Amino acid sequence: MLTNPLTKNIGPQNTAIDLAGYRAAGGYSGWRKALAGDPGDLVKMVQDAGLRGRGGAGFNTGLKWSFVPRGDDSPSIKYLVCNADEMEPGTFKDRLLMERDPHLLIEGMAIAAYAIEARTAYIFIRGEYHTATARLEKAIAEAREEGLLGENILGTGYSLEIHLHCSAGNYICGEETALLNALEGKRAVPRAKPPFPQVSGLWGKPTVVNNVETFCNIPHLIDLGVDWYKSLGRGEDAGTKLFGVSGKVKNPGTWELPMGTPIREIIEVHAGGMRDGLKLKGFLPGGGSTDFLGPEHLDLPMDYDAIGKSGSRMGTGTIIVLDDKTCPVGLVLNLTQFFARESCGWCTPCRDGLPWAVKILQRIENGEGRLEDIGLLQEQVRYMGPGNTFCALAPGAAEPIQSALKLFEQDFVEHIEKGCCPYL
Ligand code: NAI
Repeated sequence: MLTNPLTKNIGPQNTAIDLAGYRAAGGYSGWRKALAGDPGDLVKMVQDAGLRGRGGAGFNTGLKWSFVPRGDDSPSIKYLVCNADEMEPGTFKDRLLMERDPHLLIEGMAIAAYAIEARTAYIFIRGEYHTATARLEKAIAEAREEGLLGENILGTGYSLEIHLHCSAGNYICGEETALLNALEGKRAVPRAKPPFPQVSGLWGKPTVVNNVETFCNIPHLIDLGVDWYKSLGRGEDAGTKLFGVSGKVKNPGTWELPMGTPIREIIEVHAGGMRDGLKLKGFLPGGGSTDFLGPEHLDLPMDYDAIGKSGSRMGTGTIIVLDDKTCPVGLVLNLTQFFARESCGWCTPCRDGLPWAVKILQRIENGEGRLEDIGLLQEQVRYMGPGNTFCALAPGAAEPIQSALKLFEQDFVEHIEKGCCPYL
C-alpha cells in the first residue's frame, strides 16, 4: 500500500521532475480518472476524505470547493489559485514539493479546477523561489504539449490554462485576499471576509485558493480513493503531512509522515533529538505565528484538533525548537521584527502595535526594560488579537509573544532584574 503519496517521487535522483519520469511513476492517472467523472462527485470525494488545508488553517478542502456556485445560473467564469507564497517563518515544505515533483502540483490543480468548473488557474509563487519557478514553468509547458492542459484536454471538451505569477515579495501576499489583490495588480492588502473568495474572489468571480501541499494530496486521493486516504492518518485527521523541524536539533529537515504522528517522534526520531549538551525548552508547533508549547506537550499527536485543544495551532506543521541555551526573548524579538516589517499597514493594531511590541521586546533584550513592560506587552498583544484586525497577521504574530510571556516569564523578569540578557 502506498504510504508516502507526497514524496514517493522525491529521492536523490530527481527522477520525476520531467513529464517522462512523472508518467513512468504512474503520474496523471488521477487526472485521467477525474476527467472521466462528474465534477460534483470529485468535490464530495475530497470532502468525505477529510483533507484539511495544509497552508496553516486546516479548513476542510472539499467543503471549501462546495461553496463555489455551480449550475446554469452560476457565473461562467471561475478561478483556481495556488498559494505558493511560502513565507511563514520556519516553513520550507512547499518548496520541496514544487522543486522536486512539479507535475504533482500541476495534476492536483488540474483536478481541482475541473471539480470547481474553472478554466483558468494561477500559481502565485514566492519571488525568491527561482528553482521552483523554472521547474513549474517547464512542467506546465510539457503538460500543455502532451494535451494534459490547454484546449480540449485529452479530447474531453474541457479546457484549462495554468499561469505562473511571481510575487513581488511580501509576507502579506500569502493572505488569500491580499494575494487576490496582488494578482489583480492592486496594492496587496487584505479584503474584508465575507464575502469569501469562493463566492467573490479574483475580479469578483468565484475563486478557490488552496496551498501547494493541499493540491499535492489530490491526485492520489482521486486515484486510490477515500478509504485509502483516510487509512493513512494515525489520529483524528486523514492523510499524510510534510512535517519539519528547525532549531538546534541534530538533523533538521522535512519528512512526510502520517497525520497524528506524535511530536516527540518527529523531534526525537526524525530530527535526531537535541544537539549534544542542549535540552528542549519549548517549541512552536507550526511556524512562527503559533503559540509556544512546552516539553509536557511532546506526546501530543500532530493533528489540527489535538494541537488546537492544547492552546496552540498545528499551523504549517513545521516545528521551531527552542533549546535551553537560546534566549526566548531574543527569539520572540526576532520573529516580531519580521512580522512588524511585513505588516501591510492596513489596520492600526498591526501597523502600530507590532512596532510597539518590537520596541518593548528590544528594550527588555538589551537589559533596559522595566517590570511594567511585561504588562504593557500583554496589553499590546490583546489589542492585536483576533477580531481587531482584517487578517490573521497581527493575531498570529501575537501568539509567540503571549505564550512566551506565560511559559518563559522568568526569563523576561531576569533580563529586567539583571539589566542584561542572561544568555549572553
Ligand atoms: P482562515 O481560517 O480565515 O481561512 C482558511 C480558509 O478557509 C480560507 O481559504 C477561507 O476562505 C476559508 N474559510 C474560512 N472560514 C470560512 C467560511 N465561514 N466560509 C467559507 N470559507 C471559509 O485562515 P487564513 O487567514 O486563510 O490563514 C491563516 C493561516 O495561514 C494561519 O493558520 C497560518 O498558520 C497560516 N499561514 C501560512 C503561511 C505559509 O507560508 N504557509 C504564511 C502565513 C500564514
